[in-house]
Amino acid sequence: MEIKWESGDVKEKRYEILLMGVFQKESSKVKTKILKSYGFSKYSEKQKFTSEVKQTAFINGEKESPNLYLIGLGDKAKFNDEMMRIRFSHAISKIKKMRMSSMLIIPPEKSDAEHEAYELSYLALMTDYDFNRYKSRKEESIEKVGIYSASDVSKSIELGTIIGEATNLTKDLGNMPSSIGTPTHFENVARGFSGVDLKVFVREDFIKMGMGGIEAVSRAAKEPAKMLVMEYKGSDQAPVLIVGKGITFDSGGISIKSSEGLEEMKFDKCGAAAVIGSISAISRAGLKVHVVGITPLTENLPGGNAYKPGDILTHYNGVTSEIISTDAEGRLVLADALSYGVKNYDPTAVIDLATLTGACVVALGNNIGGVMTNSLDLQQRILDASKKTWEKIWPLPLDDDFKEQIKSEVADIKNTGGRPGGAETAGAFLSNFVDTKPWVHLDIAGTAWTQSKTVRKGYISRGATGFGTRLLFEYLRSCEKGNGSLDK
Ligand code: BES
Ligand code: MN
Ligand code: ZN
Repeated sequence: MEIKWESGDVKEKRYEILLMGVFQKESSKVKTKILKSYGFSKYSEKQKFTSEVKQTAFINGEKESPNLYLIGLGDKAKFNDEMMRIRFSHAISKIKKMRMSSMLIIPPEKSDAEHEAYELSYLALMTDYDFNRYKSRKEESIEKVGIYSASDVSKSIELGTIIGEATNLTKDLGNMPSSIGTPTHFENVARGFSGVDLKVFVREDFIKMGMGGIEAVSRAAKEPAKMLVMEYKGSDQAPVLIVGKGITFDSGGISIKSSEGLEEMKFDKCGAAAVIGSISAISRAGLKVHVVGITPLTENLPGGNAYKPGDILTHYNGVTSEIISTDAEGRLVLADALSYGVKNYDPTAVIDLATLTGACVVALGNNIGGVMTNSLDLQQRILDASKKTWEKIWPLPLDDDFKEQIKSEVADIKNTGGRPGGAETAGAFLSNFVDTKPWVHLDIAGTAWTQSKTVRKGYISRGATGFGTRLLFEYLRSCEKGNGSLDK
């Protein structure tokens, strides 16, 4: 998809359809002028179009004119970014279904032109996304999008394109079956990032370095396990560390899962996918931040050599864990990734994303992720970013009780604390591996992909949702001016 800034005389622009949002009681000069120039001057009277929210009108263009698609935006005072995303993405999907491949979008002009151009650019990309590479009959995709603005918004469109493509990369990595979206595939994607220094650890390294968690989980894997360490140094400050769970397939291991819905466990790599997506975005955008991204990647499979319940592992920082369930594998690989990052990079802030627990899905459903922290300041920064991107998250407690609940009789800690507070005990487990660094843990088990039963909004596609990519990017952008983490 090509996205372009357009201005001046719309009559000269060649697009199949014009997409325009209209507020109630609106009298925008620009819009009236555009409509007039196409001969649509009396659109509202003709169509009884009153611009209520959800109201739409499709008007066939005559002769050389494009078609016109009007969407009601309701009361301008109540309009916000998320309403813009929802209304425009519904319209873009409809236009796509009508098999039109080029459209000119007239932004609503509620906030500033640059911001709207940025939002609409990534929105077009996210809405157009479809994981169809294995379908012999594909829906047409939208090829050309124009964004109309009197002032130059090409820089905003460029940034929107970067983040839209990065979010779609996250979705792609999440959607890939485990036979294709392997640790090695992730490595190859990361090799393509320019300006990013990449280190790759393999099983031999896990053993040498004392990474007992990822060593154990990857023991029965067929695909070679990898831990990617990606460093992007856009500033001289101490880095922000971002870590993502990358279980390319989670069978549960010896504590095997039941077969119903097991195909969904290819999505257990969505945390790692979000880290890769955001590293791609910050490096392409050239953000002035220092970021280290770590993705522990492996399958979790049963086998004669698989790790077992009752095993005791020693993690990178020396903490030992007793295995109660081999299905609580995410926290084991994250333990090594987090403590490796904390020890070797001395970060100012640590953020991890993981499809970690079914309990979080039970607690918060599919549209809200769980957030746990040892630093309310850092958490607030992440909540602020999430308010902007509408990747919703909700704080869950990390009381000492949960730390008690995972104490082991034979090791320092155990990898499950039973059913009560399943999301929080997982968070409590991770808290042992971040030392005293400000840290936020995001449990994205419910939000990282769309289950067939769940209803989703227009721009969130079926399958992997890309959750976390825009959120990380937004947070890291907010660090640009400061020293990387906590100064406001
Ligand atoms: N990847 C799963 C978490 C998960 C479950 C995500 C369902 C989305 C939907 C994770 O590795 C897991 O299996 N967690 C267990 C932990 C339990 C054994 C303590 C769970 O949540 O059941
Ligand atoms: Mn599991
Ligand atoms: Zn898992």
